[in-house]
Amino acid sequence: MRLFTSALLVAGTLAATALTLAPAGASAEGAPAEGGPAEGGPNGANAGAASPIYGVTIPEGYRAWQLVAPAQEAAPLDELRAIVGNTTAIKAYQAGTLPFPDGTVLVKLAWKHTQSPEFATASVPGAATTVQIMVKDSKRYAATGGWGFGRFVNGKPADQAQHETCWGCHQALVADRDYVFTRYAP
Ligand code: HEC
Repeated sequence: MRLFTSALLVAGTLAATALTLAPAGASAEGAPAEGGPAEGGPNGANAGAASPIYGVTIPEGYRAWQLVAPAQEAAPLDELRAIVGNTTAIKAYQAGTLPFPDGTVLVKLAWKHTQSPEFATASVPGAATTVQIMVKDSKRYAATGGWGFGRFVNGKPADQAQHETCWGCHQALVADRDYVFTRYAP
């Protein structure tokens, strides 16, 4: 059966392809971005897909950055958050520099607010929800106060409609603080 044989061959080829792809897919998180903006992230990192409109990517190593402040969002979102900054951001905060200099990157991590399994009154982070990013580049993002925005869920950028909301809210409420809400926690 000629047809049958070629069908088997195709199936075999597909299986082989899937096998070869599996290890690559498994390490995709740390792989360099394909087709991302050539200039990459502000710290030279370009670890994944870029946000629509702004082309912002998740900066490499941000999880080890210094804390600016924690935050809490009431229901219905009911989240715990932490805002961290790169060295440029932290220096600017400590010196009280406004506007923030080019190269500033702020990352807001968010988790579901859950009760500690060991201690009823303690709140602890549950599942991670979003990672939101603001990158200062006064030339590239001149139309939005010098800030580029990125919102990521499971490492993937949110859609364009969500990115259309960022600048409006930050611009309306904190224009006098260079469009940044978070103050350095004492
Ligand atoms: C309706 C208002 C609103 C919108 C829309 C909004 N933000 Fe914010 N953002 C806030 C508030 C309030 C904070 C202060 C921290 C907190 O409450 O979590 C904040 C904080 C941040 C921070 C930490 C730096 C700072 O300004 O304090 C980043 C980064 C950020 N937002 C990114 C984004 C991105 C990206 C989008 C769009 C996808 C976005 N925001 C849309 C209200 C908004």
